[in-house]
Amino acid sequence: MSAKILLVDDKNENLVALQAALRPLGQELVQAHSGEEALRCLLNDDFAVILLDVQMPGMDGFETATRIKERWRSRHIPIIFLTAISRELAQQLKGYEVGAVDYIAKPFDPWVLRSKVAVFVDLYDKTRRVEDQAARLGQANTELEQFAEVVSHDLRNPLVSVVGYLQMLSDGSVGDLSGDSKEFVERALRAAESMGSLIDDLLDYARAGKAVGVMQTTDAGQVVERALSNLHADIEAAGAAVKAPDLPAVRADSAQLTRLFQNLIENSVKYRAPDRPLVVDISAEREDDHWLFFVRDNGDGVATDEARALFDMFYRGSTAVGRPGTGIGLAICKKIVEGHGGRIWAEPGIDGGAVVCFTLPAPDGISEAQK
Ligand SMILES: Nc1ncnc2c1ncn2[C@@H]1O[C@H](COP(=O)(O)OP(=O)(O)OP(=O)(O)O)[C@@H](O)[C@H]1O
Ligand SMILES: [Mg+2]
Repeated sequence: MSAKILLVDDKNENLVALQAALRPLGQELVQAHSGEEALRCLLNDDFAVILLDVQMPGMDGFETATRIKERWRSRHIPIIFLTAISRELAQQLKGYEVGAVDYIAKPFDPWVLRSKVAVFVDLYDKTRRVEDQAARLGQANTELEQFAEVVSHDLRNPLVSVVGYLQMLSDGSVGDLSGDSKEFVERALRAAESMGSLIDDLLDYARAGKAVGVMQTTDAGQVVERALSNLHADIEAAGAAVKAPDLPAVRADSAQLTRLFQNLIENSVKYRAPDRPLVVDISAEREDDHWLFFVRDNGDGVATDEARALFDMFYRGSTAVGRPGTGIGLAICKKIVEGHGGRIWAEPGIDGGAVVCFTLPAPDGISEAQK
């Protein structure tokens, strides 16, 4: 698809000269004889660049440029002013103020004009290509997520019956198993159960970030309470103390936020140090238009060189050896936080242990700079 170039000049002979200079570029050239006509052309079409005469009767070039920049649809189109009058600085500054990217003095050198316009045509082509690729990537991503959701959902049903039958064999309800058979059935049961939790995690991953859309003012303290009650048994078994005083309200999808805190606290419990009771500290600090949260623990800790990779899908860290898991938990957390427009990362704690930091939008959303 060739880029269109808009030529605006009240004099026909100037338009003819512009066309002659730009024809070798092989792009579609559209003419307008006044500022008003130029604005009409911009209603229906997109252009790579606009060449705009400064001195025109009625709406002059500066006013036309101002109107172009006021409209959302055309505000991004670069404007080159063509001027025969004063090349003085004041005149030029006025042009730059209303959004010109360049000036060309008349009479112009066709070669210079062509080279300048060619740069913008090239930029336009590249921008279109990047936009196309982004749209295709977005589509592929959505399809992949749908695929993951359908596959994990459909795999779950047959697995439930496999686990059910294996359980019946294992607990002796269909007769006693002898010798190695009992051990083999138990191993098959454990494998089927871990496959079940992998499928559940994949399903969670496919769904993470999806429901974001019902963003509302959500009390982070209440969300943490909910996550703690879901993890009640694990926390009690670990003898862990979780402190989360004075958490703020944020703009969030509360179901996704519960999952986020639950995954993080679950990790603190799982990767606790064997020689000291686990303490998890959850706090938040206001930063500009968002809140920065910290989930700190005194467990096995994370290594600096590994901290980034922990958020990759299926990545299990050095602390994971001998502990169950699929390496999806933090990838889900990343998707949730990014779905809310935030960032998430991990750091080693000051006295060992791990700190997971993430940002979430504040409900009022007003930045300090705007206050
Ligand atoms: N609080 C923590 N302390 C120490 N290491 C941690 C902590 N949280 C995460 N990790 C490390 O990060 C890795 C990735 O965590 P993630 O939650 O994604 O997966 P996982 O816990 O291994 O499995 P699951 O998918 O079941 O959550 C873990 O394998 C672990 O090595
Ligand atoms: Mg985990």
